[in-house]
Amino acid sequence: MRRKLVAGNWKMQGTLTQNAALLDAVRSGMAAMNSVDCAVCVPFPYLAQAQQKLSGSNVKWGAQDVHQLDKGAYTGEVSASMLHDFGCSYVIVGHSERRAIYGENSQLVAEKFLMAHLAGLTPILCVGESLQQRESGVTEKVVAEQLDALIQLGGVQALRSAVVAYEPVWAIGTGKTATSAQAQAVHAFIRQRVASQDSQIASGLCILYGGSVKANNAAELFAMPDIDGGLIGGASLVAEEFLAICRAGVPS
Ligand code: PGA
Repeated sequence: MRRKLVAGNWKMQGTLTQNAALLDAVRSGMAAMNSVDCAVCVPFPYLAQAQQKLSGSNVKWGAQDVHQLDKGAYTGEVSASMLHDFGCSYVIVGHSERRAIYGENSQLVAEKFLMAHLAGLTPILCVGESLQQRESGVTEKVVAEQLDALIQLGGVQALRSAVVAYEPVWAIGTGKTATSAQAQAVHAFIRQRVASQDSQIASGLCILYGGSVKANNAAELFAMPDIDGGLIGGASLVAEEFLAICRAGVPS
């Protein structure tokens, strides 16, 4: 049985004061919830705060992006070993906002993923189609291209200790969730595609759903056989809402 993982993606949100209250509440709310994994991916400047607030708890922390190289003259960039230095467990790569706003392609995302792995982090690879792509029937083609770029560069074993997050772009921040059946279909497709290369890696792979997950729809999504938890944007900024989503991941 795969354990559920609920990861928050704070995006470019928060202040020291707000974060302190949120991190304390998540830490204490999670203290009695040991059958579900929980993490928060915070903006870079708040990694030290997350580390200080969450060390010794069952809540892990991570970042939302990373550079594909380890060091050098890359003004403004942050390396995977720096994230490791701050105790990060996870890093999101290839979020659709990075792909759409900053032009990141699947090749670059695969390079970031492998660099995160090399530094000992668990990368969370985001994949997902736009509304136009869904409506024109190319969802599987788009998701396959995003996944295959990584498998081509790093081999299927790159997915051995990694997380994939299926996030349909049209469901992110829109309040429009994919139905549990729509999400399940794409999750099953992802798992099958990995299984065609290595069935053991596929059956152990944690595949999260992301896109307007809230306390009131998490349980239904998480009940699907190939949905192993959620990547949570907006709802991860409200402690009670985020904790309720984590609770939906507790095995019944
Ligand atoms: P949302 O964001 O939960 O606010 O839709 C999810 C994400 O972008 O990871």
